[in-house]
Amino acid sequence: MTEFKEGLEGVVAVETILSKVDGDAGRLVVRGRDIEDWVEGDTFDTFVPKFWSGLADVSSDKDFGAARVQIFAHVEAILAGLRGLSPIECVRAVMASLPDEHELPPHLLCLAAMSVAVPAVIRMENGGALIAPDAALSTAEDFLRMARGESPTAEEHAALDAYLVTVADHGMNASTFAARVVASTDAGLVSSVVAGLCALKGPLHGGAPGPVLDLLDELESSPDVGGYILKELESGRRMMGFGHRIYRVRDPRAEVLKKAVRDLPQTQGRLAFAERLETEILTQLRQWKPDRPLETNVEYYTALLQEALGFPRSTFTCVFGLGRTVGWTAHAIEQQTTGRLIRPRSSYVGDLAA
Ligand code: ACO
Repeated sequence: MTEFKEGLEGVVAVETILSKVDGDAGRLVVRGRDIEDWVEGDTFDTFVPKFWSGLADVSSDKDFGAARVQIFAHVEAILAGLRGLSPIECVRAVMASLPDEHELPPHLLCLAAMSVAVPAVIRMENGGALIAPDAALSTAEDFLRMARGESPTAEEHAALDAYLVTVADHGMNASTFAARVVASTDAGLVSSVVAGLCALKGPLHGGAPGPVLDLLDELESSPDVGGYILKELESGRRMMGFGHRIYRVRDPRAEVLKKAVRDLPQTQGRLAFAERLETEILTQLRQWKPDRPLETNVEYYTALLQEALGFPRSTFTCVFGLGRTVGWTAHAIEQQTTGRLIRPRSSYVGDLAA
């Protein structure tokens, strides 16, 4: 029997053509191109058909707008029946309500439902009435319009495009693995996306950016930032937005997002403080764990970017989920085509009958 690895650390579970995370070099390659090049050259709507190509085709990026319009009434009806749930619970309920059989192909159905459900929960969180999608707009521009009730600036929808492309796929992360396990049972794409979303919501995965802002708020007026961080570490708390299972150097997505945040004028003061705080936290983490490189991960600048776009922190993970739906669906299809059930073994350490 092969050796047991807690958390499957270092275990290669699948083969994929979708993305490669090089944790030593700090490099993310997505379908043969570095993430920096994708963000530089593509919007979310031009990226997705290329990323899905050969697995989950769409005839054109115009399909996204039409699909959003088609699914809106369903999403609106489901949300109207939900009371007292958090934004991520609402999005999870909407996704779980989707039928396995639908006129839209399942990858487009899932993406369209996320593209309208996430701005809808932002709108609800801010106390506004839901706004219907506009098929003529890009996903990012329409998202911001539906979420905030006003047309975004070019810088704002460019920042959201950069964010959604950056988080679309990232190797065998926990939520993608969950999506692939479900896909391997032939349960269908909707179930895979729901599984991915459930895994993403935990604070050790996609739930970190809200707490990053809480920390920024707490420390922006603190006279003793260093002392506060040390106390946090001494009491066993983790610095949110730092550390990664694979990266031993800075997560390349942190730099891409920092660049996108820099283009948003509304965040300048916050960004300057966040950069100072990042330096202080990294210094302390190096002293705290000299043998374990702990660097900035994607969630740190995700927090700043989403805050600058005016999203409430309770909805940050939902926005991440929209981007990652592109990855979950492609991985689910890739897994289905292998036709192989994912079914590892466990090592029983309980009692045996005498
Ligand atoms: N702050 C302080 N200490 C940390 C941190 C951190 N952010 N991350 C890891 N450590 C410590 C651990 O406590 C552990 O110490 P120990 O050996 O004394 O127990 C040591 O470093 C090794 O950590 P592991 O738990 O083995 O690292 P793992 O690979 O499991 O963790 C993880 C990765 C979960 C992301 C972790 O770094 C963490 O909790 N970070 C904070 C949450 C966060 O930012 N999550 C978003 C990740 S990016 C994403 O999923 C999209």
